[in-house]
Amino acid sequence: MKIIYPGTFDPFSLGHTNITARACAMYECVIIAVSENIYKKPMFTLEQRVEMAKLAVADIRNTEVIGFKGLLVDLMQEKGVHCVLRGIRGMVDFEYELQMAQANRSMLKGYEPIFLMPGENYMALSSAFIRDLLRHGGNVSPFLPKPVNEYIKQFYDRI
Ligand code: PNS
Repeated sequence: MKIIYPGTFDPFSLGHTNITARACAMYECVIIAVSENIYKKPMFTLEQRVEMAKLAVADIRNTEVIGFKGLLVDLMQEKGVHCVLRGIRGMVDFEYELQMAQANRSMLKGYEPIFLMPGENYMALSSAFIRDLLRHGGNVSPFLPKPVNEYIKQFYDRI
């Protein structure tokens, strides 16, 4: 069975890699779907975020990385996939995920959200935290897959 892992991935972190790798052990294919999400005003363009996700999971065989614009449920119908993977770190994430799952469920019959808890080293890690470090010249290398860190260096030469 295939599962879609949607997100803004701005940027793709070690927490995302951890969730992807664990889901890959359970599903035939994990489709990482990078949302345009212009309303969030991402730091990186959709193309850059797709590129970073590809670099991050290059060693994991059963993954596919795509960018998408528009509704997640439309993409799911196009791909014929009903399961959606999301990582949950705590209660704040849970409230948000519940709302999103309920909205998506009302639009797509059979929508099945699957939640994974990130590994303990990644429970407090977020892309927002990484972006904040980048803006202030902090060291982000402990939080990023190596190839993503290298990729980001071209934009932020102080890291
Ligand atoms: O990593 P994020 O920002 O928490 O991911 C949110 C994302 C991309 C999964 C969500 O915003 C989304 O699915 N966007 C696509 C547009 C859509 O389907 N919106 C309705 C969901 S309630």
